[in-house]
Amino acid sequence: MGLLIRNGEIVNVGSRLQADVYAENETITRIGKNLEVPPGAEVIDATGKLVFPGFIDPHVHIYLPFMATFAKDTHETGSIAALIGGTTTYIEMCCPNRNDDALEGYQLWKSKAEGKSACDYAFHMSVTKFVKETESQLREIVADGTASFKIFLAYKNFFGVDDGEMYQTLELANRLGVITTAHCENAELVARLQQKLLAEGKIGPEWHEPSRPESVEAEGTGRFATFLEITGATGYVVHLSCEKALHVALDAKSRGVRIHVESVLPHFLLDKTYAKRPGVEGMKHVMSPPLRAKENQAALWKALANGSIDTVGTDHCPFDTEQKLLGKDSFVSIPNGISGIEDRVNLLYTYGVRRGRLDMDRFVDAASTRAAKLFGLFPRKGTIAVGGDADIVVYDPSYRGVISAKSQHTNNDYNGFEGMEIEGRPTVVTVRGKVQVRDGQFVGERGRGRLLKREAAHF
Ligand code: URP
Ligand code: ZN
Ligand code: ZN
Repeated sequence: MGLLIRNGEIVNVGSRLQADVYAENETITRIGKNLEVPPGAEVIDATGKLVFPGFIDPHVHIYLPFMATFAKDTHETGSIAALIGGTTTYIEMCCPNRNDDALEGYQLWKSKAEGKSACDYAFHMSVTKFVKETESQLREIVADGTASFKIFLAYKNFFGVDDGEMYQTLELANRLGVITTAHCENAELVARLQQKLLAEGKIGPEWHEPSRPESVEAEGTGRFATFLEITGATGYVVHLSCEKALHVALDAKSRGVRIHVESVLPHFLLDKTYAKRPGVEGMKHVMSPPLRAKENQAALWKALANGSIDTVGTDHCPFDTEQKLLGKDSFVSIPNGISGIEDRVNLLYTYGVRRGRLDMDRFVDAASTRAAKLFGLFPRKGTIAVGGDADIVVYDPSYRGVISAKSQHTNNDYNGFEGMEIEGRPTVVTVRGKVQVRDGQFVGERGRGRLLKREAAHF
């Protein structure tokens, strides 16, 4: 059955058009004014609404064994939360640790999502060690359509790679034309600072930020950039949090290093005072890199507006109150992470577009199109165009609401953005031509999501 979305304002990067969109067999087949309604087509009236390409979250954790526990979402809960918030595709970090076999890990992560996700998805394959079988395993994973890697410079002895392993990964990535995403914090300095602070009796969540200061992130970013420069590989800094690290990344870019930057929603809207809240309230705002001094936010917004920050992801990684309390006696045991998959688009639209920090073009680019281009999904995803997947968000800019754990769909008992007002939300969300969300409710098909195969493109 066809789907006709009528008379909305279609917003793509570089164009805005009052028109209809028609989709058949999962694909957009026509865009134009006053399209006729084919017999049997479902019609959605989008008058007064914005019609966006499905949003893409380039950085989420769904299945994640980490810090003596597991992130709380499953692909059922995470994908429904994503869709309600307008995200129709997410890229999950596949994260076997240093003691795991990479290929077995990849199969495990795939098995967790298959038949369970209600939206489309892909993986960044983490390289957490480089041993003799790593090259052939990574070749197999890339050939399977997972054409991006992830490395952690942080999390010593768990996910973290040393400089030799980083070099080998980037050198291989360059030969394969694969982009490598990286968590850039100096693992050694973090470990030393943690020990020092604990020895001084500084055990609360407010000490998480001083254990990983801005200079530690700037060092990691600079080292990653230098390794990209030497190997010629293409890189993508994930969850960049502060002006200092931003300068390092942009300086590298200006000398020709192929480096891209992602920042994640918490760093635009929350600051380190949240982690200073008493007791578990502070722990709920512990993530890495940590929430920073508020002054950084203006620099992040500015860089996002001018495109120096390429994308906005979430680093969605929910841990509930009980899990956060694992760190009640020591900040180094607080599971690092915060949710965001459901709220990213509405918060970015409200505090970016509505508050005049971001134009509509950049909003669509940062939340959808740029990620599609960088990660080999464009033009199938990331734009409303004939021939593309019919992943469409009909967005109501007149909606008013408030973020609350009471109404959320992600599997958590609090929301780090609790109480923030939103000015806009999706009324209809489709995945490959099927309506999955209406007015904040999931009305679609569970398990509809597909693993997206992607080609290497960064030669
Ligand atoms: O605090 C965070 N970011 N948790 C998830 C793991 C990671 O580093 O992305
Ligand atoms: Zn990270
Ligand atoms: Zn992450």
